[in-house]
Amino acid sequence: MAVVPSSLADALHDRYTLERELGAGGMATVYLARDLKHDRDVALKVLRPELAAVLGAERFLQEIRISAKLDHPHILTLIDSGAVDGFLYYVLSFVRGESLRDKLNREKQLGIEEALAITKQVASALDYAHRQGVVHRDIKPENILIQEGEAVVADFGIALAVREAGGPRLTESGLSLGTPQYMSPEQATGGRELDARSDVYSLAAVVYEMLAGEPPHTGPTVQAVIAKLLTERPTRIRTVRDTVPEGVDTAVAKALAKVPVDRFAGAAEFAAALAVPGAGPTAGWRRRTRCGRRDRGRGAGPGWRTPRSPRHRRRRWPAHRARSPAAAAPAGS
Ligand SMILES: Nc1ncnc2c1ncn2[C@@H]1O[C@H](COP(=O)(O)OP(=O)(O)O)[C@@H](O)[C@H]1O
Ligand SMILES: [Mg+2]
Repeated sequence: MAVVPSSLADALHDRYTLERELGAGGMATVYLARDLKHDRDVALKVLRPELAAVLGAERFLQEIRISAKLDHPHILTLIDSGAVDGFLYYVLSFVRGESLRDKLNREKQLGIEEALAITKQVASALDYAHRQGVVHRDIKPENILIQEGEAVVADFGIALAVREAGGPRLTESGLSLGTPQYMSPEQATGGRELDARSDVYSLAAVVYEMLAGEPPHTGPTVQAVIAKLLTERPTRIRTVRDTVPEGVDTAVAKALAKVPVDRFAGAAEFAAALAVPGAGPTAGWRRRTRCGRRDRGRGAGPGWRTPRSPRHRRRRWPAHRARSPAAAAPAGS
């Protein structure tokens, strides 16, 4: 594990103690830190020095203010931000969980119900942000964190700030801003006027990977992936996984359309299309759960439930047992 640079630790010492590095992405290094004022763990993200140099403190803090206004249960809360001794940093609540990337690395493909629940939560975060005029621009499994069984979206607006402010100088600095696999065609070709539909495309690419096991377009190089995402239609999900309901397959294909106007107008519309009758769980899944508690309140309507954490399961278990004499018997013995 990389050591915490002492200059950074010194610069922040009166507010935060840096414990260890949690990870590093294209733009920043993330540390587990102790917020001394509130005596709590936080995630402190420090922009790469090259990036901090091209971006500048003023522009960075201005963009951070925009994302700080977002307040939604599926958006990771921004706690603080600042510029000290040439470092640009922002502080987020620390997620004691894992990213969707970690989960996909481990499980490769998710259950249909779970994948759709995660999608619904991310879509609600996007819909909210879009209504505030904020486009995420970097929706990918790394930026979806799973906390207590709920999805929270990280890095709202940050990628936007970096890409726009950095511009050509960013490319000169040799920084790569991540994978193009979840980028919309208009974003991959350097479009600046990205709107909600670009995020819809990226979310659809994430859904595609959760269900199919890999993103819609893959290739050995960034250029190869970009060439494919501009010209090729991805293999339909049902070709590789025929248990996925037709409605889901169709909605994802529409959201992955090359031209924004052929997609859904927004994240809410996409989520609604995933939830219509026929897009819900497969008939087999329904049969299995008809008598079970998992079936309660669910259906083909818009009411996809969130994946339940073990805590939820524990809470629900006694109620279920009480209704079932067979299950209640051993409980009393
Ligand atoms: N708030 C957080 N709580 C816990 N871990 C985090 C948090 N934010 C980021 N991380 C971890 O740090 C890693 C790097 O994050 P980031 O710089 O956003 O890069 P990227 O999103 O490209 O992976 C993430 O993949 C994640 O594992
Ligand atoms: Mg991130």
